[in-house]
Amino acid sequence: MPGARFLGTGLAVPEQVVTNDDLSRLMDTTDEWIRTRTGIRERRWVREGETNAGLAHAATLRALESAGLEPGRLDAIVYATSTPDHFAPGGGVYLQRMLGTGAIPSIDIRNQCSGFVYALAVADAFIRGGLYRYVLVVGAEVQSTALDVSTRGRNTAVIFADGAGAAVLGPGDGGRGILGYDLHGDGTYAEKLWVDAPGSMYHPRMSAGQIEAGRHFLEMDGKEVFRHAVTRMPESVRAVLAANGYTTADLALLVAHQANLRIAEMMQKALDLRDDQVYNNIERYGNTTAATIPMALDECARAGRLTPGDLVALTAFGSGFLWGSALLRW
Ligand code: COA
Repeated sequence: MPGARFLGTGLAVPEQVVTNDDLSRLMDTTDEWIRTRTGIRERRWVREGETNAGLAHAATLRALESAGLEPGRLDAIVYATSTPDHFAPGGGVYLQRMLGTGAIPSIDIRNQCSGFVYALAVADAFIRGGLYRYVLVVGAEVQSTALDVSTRGRNTAVIFADGAGAAVLGPGDGGRGILGYDLHGDGTYAEKLWVDAPGSMYHPRMSAGQIEAGRHFLEMDGKEVFRHAVTRMPESVRAVLAANGYTTADLALLVAHQANLRIAEMMQKALDLRDDQVYNNIERYGNTTAATIPMALDECARAGRLTPGDLVALTAFGSGFLWGSALLRW
């Protein structure tokens, strides 16, 4: 019996396009270095006034429209973000206020790049369990305000970006819906990709000294992240397929977290997938953390790359380390 299914999707990105050449004017880097190492050509970064919840709102309106539902029909919001507009409360309630849904519940998922896959599992459990019928799942991020755009931060600043993707989920039907998950976490590597401050372990939560030292910037051990990502994602995709009696040959589409095009290429090879079985858009958007999967799904849905009944796998890896996959019949 399949779980929840996708009824509609939407995407929203900031207006401002930041090219690799734009970055080379801020730090010691080149378009060639960035393209060769990451596949990224340009990304979107917010201007002052554009917010995480604002992007989520724009993506949600598109998702609701494609699902043919009014905001008032939503029963709950599951909001994946590692970059909420404020330390507290999370993004869900701000989105709920903008949508004018009435006092529906919302829950924030802070699982970074794997946030959307985890959010999907939570929304699906709500629907499978009969608690709610229509659940909005959002992945929204504003990473640009946590990037060190000097040469000191160039290994992360060229990768991360802003954007939002949304999906409206409803009960599965006629074999269409989510079939299963493969979810993992290993805190051994928590500091390999993290933002140290502000944090409640510090008194005060953030000091002038920490700002001076750049402790509020996203920090990454790129090589270590790369090494784990290219192992964990293929392993997880195989696991979720095997648990449901399938192999990679049965997949119509793999939508993987857009971390880095080189990671995606190695994963495609490891899983022995054809070009038509994968989708990448990192070239245009960079790595938007929890937003990459719903953004890519929306582009695939609108481009006719997804047909009802298609076997689709979603997979992600990131900060935590947290990783996992979902398998579904579109
Ligand atoms: N432009 C130019 N040079 C850069 C640079 C940039 N933007 N960023 C780093 N460098 C330099 C480094 O300073 C280093 O120079 P050095 O050898 O003189 O010290 C050199 O390039 C190699 O740095 P390193 O960090 O070892 O590079 P790398 O080959 O591992 O590539 C990444 C860096 C970030 C592209 C790569 O590690 C990666 O893709 N990791 C995974 C990142 C990811 O996907 N994160 C998100 C996961 S959710």
